[in-house]
Amino acid sequence: MSCRGAEKRVALVRGDGVGPEVIDGALAVLEAAGAGLEFVPVELGYGRWKRTGKAIAEEDLELIKTCHSVLLGAITTPPDPEYRSVLLRLRQELDLYANIRPFSAPELDFVIVRENTEGMYSGVEKLDEEEATTLRVITYRGSLRIAERACAIASKRQRLTIVHKSNVLKSDRLFLKICEETARRWDVPFESMLVDAAAYNLVINPKRFDVMVMTNLFGDILSDEAAGIVGGLGLCPSANLGDKYALFEPIHGSAPDIAGKGIANPIGAIRSAAMMLEWFGDAEKARMIEEAVEWSLAQKVTTPDLGGCCSTKEVAEAISKRLAWSD
Ligand code: IPM
Ligand code: MG
Repeated sequence: MSCRGAEKRVALVRGDGVGPEVIDGALAVLEAAGAGLEFVPVELGYGRWKRTGKAIAEEDLELIKTCHSVLLGAITTPPDPEYRSVLLRLRQELDLYANIRPFSAPELDFVIVRENTEGMYSGVEKLDEEEATTLRVITYRGSLRIAERACAIASKRQRLTIVHKSNVLKSDRLFLKICEETARRWDVPFESMLVDAAAYNLVINPKRFDVMVMTNLFGDILSDEAAGIVGGLGLCPSANLGDKYALFEPIHGSAPDIAGKGIANPIGAIRSAAMMLEWFGDAEKARMIEEAVEWSLAQKVTTPDLGGCCSTKEVAEAISKRLAWSD
């Protein structure tokens, strides 16, 4: 999972709500780590939509495509039928088909590999007064490429759990078959598990999981559940990877209720920045950031969501200082 040797040009999308605050935290930590990145600010999202009537334009996509990756804070998706999620558009336009969501806590360490472009997010929908439908599209190509990504990760770890609902959904019979074939080809130990059982087992015995692969909506739901299990959404990062582009973002949303208060947890964004450094081939700096984050958590230098009384800025500063000491 890296793009070694590439120039490090990063489109910076601060976004809405707490997005700008957590991104400031991530930038402070990247600077303390001496990441040496070039940032290209791109304004996208709901704030811009309210101001200009456009949440994202073709020119923004062109600009983003001149960069190697995107670091994104959070973008509000209002329940307005006219408004199309910018994040989903970016995933589609940049073909970011693999959403990698690692979860860690003391004695817990597992990864959700979520298909990110099809399934229930196909966009093939119809909404009438009497009936509404959403087409769950699972393709051979889409399943194969996510299975390959999951097996590549699992081959360096312990095993793979293929999460599905093939007892009810025909579309998941295809997904399951392709994942099983791919795991056999990679010679990765694997099991399959129905999604309802996986949701249950995540709560009862999360330690049994290592790498989990699943379709889009199941990944959306189980990753929020997993975040709850490891201590909260504010802690969790993600990488959205394609063959050409990559986008890194905390898995939390824009949290408008606490926006501007300076209390949002920056750790999800900081860990996302660390994942980006790893993808750029700088695994050592990524590891140092992760260690500094763990140190701050152990010291209980935390924002209110984790029971602490530090601000976003104080947490980011503590992590940055720790990086400077460990230099
Ligand atoms: C996520 C989010 C998005 C999703 C929303 C904001 C469209 O919940 O990244 O998990 O559903 O994928
Ligand atoms: Mg989600």
